[in-house]
Amino acid sequence: MNSKFFLTTPIYYVNDVPHIGHAYTTIAADVVARYWRQKISKENVFFLTGTDEHGQKVAQAAKEKGLSPKEFVDSVAPRFEEAWKLLNIDYDYFIRTTDPKHESVVTDLLQKIYDAGYIYPGTYNGLYCVGCEKFLTESELVDGKCPLHPNKEPVHQEEKNYFLKLKELSRKVFEKIENGEYQILPEDKKKEIVSRIKQGVEDISISRAGVSWGIPLPWDKSQTIYVWVDALINYYSATRFIKGKEGFWPANLHLVGKDILWFHTVIWQAILIAAGIPLPKTIFAHGFFTIDGAKMSKSLGNVISPQELVEKYGVDGARYLVVSAYPFGSDGDISQEKFKEEYNAHLANGIGNLVSRIAKLCENSGFEFPQEKVLKFDDLVEENIKNYHFDEALKNLFDRFISGLDYSINKEEPWKLTGENLKEFLTGSVSIIRNLSFNLRPFLPATSEKIEKQFLGPKIKSGLPLFPRL
Ligand code: MSP
Repeated sequence: MNSKFFLTTPIYYVNDVPHIGHAYTTIAADVVARYWRQKISKENVFFLTGTDEHGQKVAQAAKEKGLSPKEFVDSVAPRFEEAWKLLNIDYDYFIRTTDPKHESVVTDLLQKIYDAGYIYPGTYNGLYCVGCEKFLTESELVDGKCPLHPNKEPVHQEEKNYFLKLKELSRKVFEKIENGEYQILPEDKKKEIVSRIKQGVEDISISRAGVSWGIPLPWDKSQTIYVWVDALINYYSATRFIKGKEGFWPANLHLVGKDILWFHTVIWQAILIAAGIPLPKTIFAHGFFTIDGAKMSKSLGNVISPQELVEKYGVDGARYLVVSAYPFGSDGDISQEKFKEEYNAHLANGIGNLVSRIAKLCENSGFEFPQEKVLKFDDLVEENIKNYHFDEALKNLFDRFISGLDYSINKEEPWKLTGENLKEFLTGSVSIIRNLSFNLRPFLPATSEKIEKQFLGPKIKSGLPLFPRL
């Protein structure tokens, strides 16, 4: 078994405020972090999240607001921390790439790679997409535009840059993927990456002459470090400058959306190989959701904020709906309509109703229920969580524990039972609820806490509804 577990979310761009897309990855990471804390211990888990604050895109957003980049990032970064607090995300550290402690690790690392001969000067001539913060190759263009940002004109750039020998490094990356030194999940995403490497990889520019909002290159201060290189290094820098976290590198898990998988599985690994640093163990890419069949976008006005989710469904309602919506590694569709139906069916009428019925029966019975000997994770649920099948884990809990107990209540009709028969029925039910609550902790921490307040003592009391019907 793992003795330590270090996991990360992407660090989010501060050009925009947090939305449900950011929340999707972050909630999933929180489930994994809470699971491992329950399995090993709080001190041996390190859950890192944060914000990506340099680069052209952020500098432009600041300009539009009439603020300096620094003023702007200082005003937006706390919005992410607030959103995560609101969603009960229990991260251990919030990293910001404008923190001088991060900047200094980045600078040292780049110098090391330069000294090792993996960086050389050259001229870049081509198209750049500010939305992606990356150079576009001819083959990526669709009608002359970036496929992810068809409304933004790619900009032509020609400038002196420094290049990373990605072509050479990608051969090592390929070997390490093939011999399992690090894992790319799900399997179909790994295949995509492998085939793209086989098609051939070019060296990439890792510095910018025309972007001042970034970390200066240590050996040529007229250039700043490419924002993606700066950002990827956050995962490592956190384990260098935060006291007591040194032993957490290499990371066990980088959770990312499929949009940024290439950066994480190829470019990041190449940087680490060039610097002689051990590679992370697993990179998991989840899918993207659409909302009512459409891509989420400001121009469509269909962006959902974490605040809106919590106002509508409560904190645990929001967490449940987002994680259970569709399989984690696939693409899916979400809608407020479906969220409302799911909330009522599974939370209000499902777990909420069940817990309140059993609590009432126990209270009325006057019986005492001795403590459970050991609470533990259900084997199937545990396997689901370890494989990042969160929707399956919840489905298992809801089908087997909740629907299962609902079924026996309807069959046994405990309100007609008395004496030992009633006691036996209730003892079994209480045990199911206590175990359910233990297994639900990573997903619905506040709900589990409420259930445990009612059910952990020998005298069980009824309480307020866990999930009021919408
Ligand atoms: N700053 C970079 C990441 C650097 S990591 C070293 C970045 N930031 S971002 O703000 O654009 O966030 C991208 C991430 O947001 C995705 O990888 C994904 O985790 C999440 N999502 C954004 N929209 C989403 C959906 N529609 N669906 C699912 N996840 C989404 O990229």
